[in-house]
Amino acid sequence: MQKAIIIGGTSGIGRGLAEILIEKDWTVAITGRRTDLLNEIKGNSKNRILIQEHDITEINNSDDKMESLFSQLKVVDLVIVSSGVSELNQELNWEIENKVIKTNVNGIAKVYEFMFSKLKKQGHGHLVGISSIASLRGNRYCPSYSASKAFQANYLEALRCIAKNEKLDLKITDVQPGLVDTPMAKGEGLFWVAPVKKASYQIYSAILKQKKKVYITKRWRLIAWIMKIAPSWVLEKM
Ligand SMILES: NC(=O)c1ccc[n+]([C@@H]2O[C@H](COP(=O)([O-])OP(=O)(O)OC[C@H]3O[C@@H](n4cnc5c(N)ncnc54)[C@H](OP(=O)(O)O)[C@@H]3O)[C@@H](O)[C@H]2O)c1
Repeated sequence: MQKAIIIGGTSGIGRGLAEILIEKDWTVAITGRRTDLLNEIKGNSKNRILIQEHDITEINNSDDKMESLFSQLKVVDLVIVSSGVSELNQELNWEIENKVIKTNVNGIAKVYEFMFSKLKKQGHGHLVGISSIASLRGNRYCPSYSASKAFQANYLEALRCIAKNEKLDLKITDVQPGLVDTPMAKGEGLFWVAPVKKASYQIYSAILKQKKKVYITKRWRLIAWIMKIAPSWVLEKM
């Protein structure tokens, strides 16, 4: 039986992936801050499921929380890092910017560092990060969010380079969703918003194929291509 840890599995994409893995008979450990949701997921499942309250912004406790899951599971085949926050903040309210940076940059970097080191020590494993298509360009509606997602995407690429360079049996996948129907998808004029279930199945399929990078849903590949080649004056007008 395969074993997975999902960091940020209480709702949205992380929860969608947890439900698929449980359905496919994986042993799954799920983390998040909302203990009521963790208990609800555990209560709904007949399979073996571990839950762990974990706030990734509490950097000093973060390793201990993740270590506890590793020691219970013994071997971990897959780690999915889905935790994240997003706020529309063109006004650059510092409280919001700081929260996004503390979570999506500091908190996530600690998780990536810990998980990569553990999987390296174990000798094998697959680390999946959920960044975003927002990582591709600066976005005036959510400056810290788009920058934090660029940080995550580059970090995951760097980890893949380390794994390759050191000939480690580690796989690294960067998942870049467009818009998925969770509270995270905010703003006006949203389009191509994918249901959580559809997005989660596409991510699961990409994980099985051990893809390096994947756009979710698939049609967002087109938007990614446009975003990459768009001149800055186009972005400034949007
Ligand atoms: N929805 C979209 O359109 C979209 C598009 C591109 C990328 N993404 C990315 O997909 C990932 C999942 O987001 P989602 O759309 O599924 O939204 P969501 O339902 O709000 O899920 C966010 C998850 O992050 C966890 N989280 C937030 N702050 C945390 C913290 N301090 N410590 C630990 N966990 C924390 C939440 O758990 P607790 O609240 O229980 O802690 C929750 O499980 C995020 O990284 C997001 O940036 C989403």
